Formats: sequence, C-alpha cells, structure tokens
Amino acid sequence: MTPFKCLLPSTIVYGPGKANELGALLAGEHILFISDKGVQGAGVADSVLAACREGAASFSEYWDVPPEPTEEQVEVVAAAVDRPGLSVIVAMGGGSVMDMAKFVSVMVQGGPSMVDMFEGRLPAGKQVKLVMIPTTAGTGSEATPNSIALRPALNLKVGVVCPYFMPDYVVLDPELLCGLPPHITAATGLDALCHALECFVSNKANPISDMFALESMRLTFKSLQKAYENGKDIEARGDTLLAAFYGGVCIASSGTNAVHALSYPLGGRYRIPHGVSNAILLAPAFAYNMDACMAKLAQVAELAAASRGESLAGKSEQQRAQYLVDFLAALTRNLKIPASLEELGIPASDLDWLVDAAFEVKRLLNNNPKPLGKTDIRTIYTSILTRKC
Ligand SMILES: NC(=O)c1ccc[n+]([C@@H]2O[C@H](COP(=O)([O-])OP(=O)(O)OC[C@H]3O[C@@H](n4cnc5c(N)ncnc54)[C@H](O)[C@@H]3O)[C@@H](O)[C@H]2O)c1
Ligand SMILES: [Fe+2]
Repeated sequence: MTPFKCLLPSTIVYGPGKANELGALLAGEHILFISDKGVQGAGVADSVLAACREGAASFSEYWDVPPEPTEEQVEVVAAAVDRPGLSVIVAMGGGSVMDMAKFVSVMVQGGPSMVDMFEGRLPAGKQVKLVMIPTTAGTGSEATPNSIALRPALNLKVGVVCPYFMPDYVVLDPELLCGLPPHITAATGLDALCHALECFVSNKANPISDMFALESMRLTFKSLQKAYENGKDIEARGDTLLAAFYGGVCIASSGTNAVHALSYPLGGRYRIPHGVSNAILLAPAFAYNMDACMAKLAQVAELAAASRGESLAGKSEQQRAQYLVDFLAALTRNLKIPASLEELGIPASDLDWLVDAAFEVKRLLNNNPKPLGKTDIRTIYTSILTRKC
C-alpha cells in the first residue's frame, strides 16, 4: 500500500463564461487583480475585471508580471502591490502570473523574502486568499502548493513548496483560451502531459495521482492537437484545461522527475519557455526510462492508441511501451516543438555545464523510476543535441 497526502483547492468551478461570475464571491473584499500584457492584449479580462470591481471594498490592478519571473522580479512586484488590508489576490494568466501571485500573497504584509523561502523559512500562515483563473492549459499551478522562480545566480529554475500557496478558488473557463496562440497552446499542453506522465511513473506515484494522471493524458491525447489546430474549439479547450488541472493534482501528490529535472537548466540559463524545454525532452527521457516502467508506459500506450482509433491487441508490453515513446515523438513533431538543442542555440560545448546543473536537481531526480547518474543525463542531452528528423 502506498501512503500519500494530497492537497486540493477548496473550490473548483468549470465552464464557459464562469470567470464572469466572481462578483458574489469577491463582495466586500480588498482585491488585487494581477495579470500580464499577453492576457491584456488577448482582450479576455474585461468582464472578469468588472466582476471583481462589482462589490469590492477596494480594488487595484497590476499588469506587468514578466514571463517566467526571476526572484528579483518577484521582490519588485511584491513591493509594488503591498498595501494594508489586502484580502484577496485574483490571478488571471498562465503559470508566470499564478506563481507570481502565490509568492506575493505570502510576502506582503511583512511576510518572508524570496531568499527566506528558498532557504526554507516559509510563512507562518495565510493572510491573503488566492483566486486563480488560468489562461493557459499547462502548468497546473492552479492545483498545486508549488511556485517556481528563476534564480539567475544559479542559472536554474527553483521551486518552493508551501501549503499556503494552494489556491482557495479556481475558475477553469475555456472561453479565456480561445485566443491563445498555437505555439503557446502546444508548449503548455505538452507541459501538462509531462506532469501527468512523469507523475504516473514517479517513485511517489499513488492511487490519487494515478487516477488523475490517466484521465489527464486521455484528455490531452484526445484534444491537444485539436486545440492547436483550431483555438476556438471550446470542447477541446475545455479538455486541455481539465488535463492541465489534473496534471497539477498529480504534482501535488506525486512528483515530476527526469523531464523536469533536465529541463530546469535549459529554462534557467537559456530562458527557453518552460513548456518547450520539457517537450523537447519528453520522448528521449521516456526512451531512457522505458525498461524501469514498462508496464505503466504500456498502459498509457493504450490511451494513446485509442485516441488514434488504433488497437495494440497482440503487442507485447515492450512493443506497447515503444509505441508510446514513438507516439510522444510524433506528437511533439506535429506540434512544431524544436527538435534539438542546436535549434535552440545551445552549443555542444555547454554539455558539461548542463549535465552538472541537472545533476543538482535532486528533489526531482529522486522521483525518477530509474536512477540517473551524470553519464545517463549526458546520454539524454546528447540524443537531442542536433536535429533528427
Ligand atoms: N507552480 C507550478 O506548479 C508550475 C508547474 C509548471 C510550470 N510552472 C511555471 O509556470 C511558468 C510558465 O507558465 P506558462 O507555461 O503558463 O506560460 P506563461 O504564463 O509565461 O505564459 C506564456 C505567454 O502566454 C501569454 N498568454 C497567457 N494566456 C494567454 C491567453 N489566454 N491568450 C493569449 N496569450 C496568453 C502570456 O502573456 C505569456 O506571454 C514558468 O515560470 C514555470 O516555471 C509552475
Ligand atoms: Fe511543468
């Protein structure tokens, strides 16, 4: 029996237009609305803003969250928005906005600094409630007690896990994603797939994460390509939002591993978007892991095959696991993810640095179903150094 613990947001609301119904929830609150320029440009925030303002005791807005923020940028935003009495932060955006909101919610009103939190001095309690409205379908940050910032001094993304980061109220509204550009749909959707698949094979996998992971992957296989090809397909957008949320639930009780560990140095040093740096590693990392989690990969292969109307009847476990690895490679190709580090401008001469940096991401490497030494990490990076068709 696998013991587990799983935190979940208190309330989850799902459906087109649901983000416009926040007024009653927020009445009488002192609200900070936080988002970024991409969401502002997409023109999807107006009715949400109106709902926030409706009965608020006070209201302020902040639109300058940078993509994939550094710890210094989080400090700047926390100082800019701090004010006495703040009671709710409404975060509307992708993982960058949601993670920023999580950090800021505990830093205001005399809370810890970023360095405090990176060094394990976490806040003593929760002062400010968190309402999350994801506008990408990827990170699952709306379902996790995790938040990530870039630490430029280390050239690494670093995560902080704190129970007070868990959102109180989550709105999954597929209408908000209809203008999300295809390349962001692809990268973020594959991030969600990484969360589900890594958590499914993780050393920390458990009955809750397995259940959410399988459904998350089924929805991604069914609908990510559709959402990529037709952003206005509301059913497909809804499926990808659920897939991402379920992936977040997996992270909250299980844990990502090889893909995310090797991805962090790519994001940290070369500022490659999180979804892209994961997606490029997805098939190679699972080719490496295959013999250590064959039965589980064979199980996922059935979902992948069903999404294409294919049958794997009569195939061995190994053939089914290989089918999945090939399927993942084809999916990332179809979604136009760069195929190599070379394409991302990363030279072979940086390989030693990459290997050493990834080897330090022990928090995630320890979750991998197969031990990863420096030679193994080098093998995986080497397999994506130059373009392969
Ligand atoms: N906390 C967690 O559990 C967790 C998990 C995975 C990743 N992350 C973090 O999340 C961040 C990445 O988040 P992301 O992948 O969602 O990307 P993002 O939040 O950086 O957004 C990517 C781009 O999409 C734009 N955008 C967002 N929604 C849009 C919409 N509806 N229409 C048009 N444009 C839109 C944004 O403005 C931005 O330019 C990274 O910092 C990563 O480390 C956190
Ligand atoms: Fe991720």
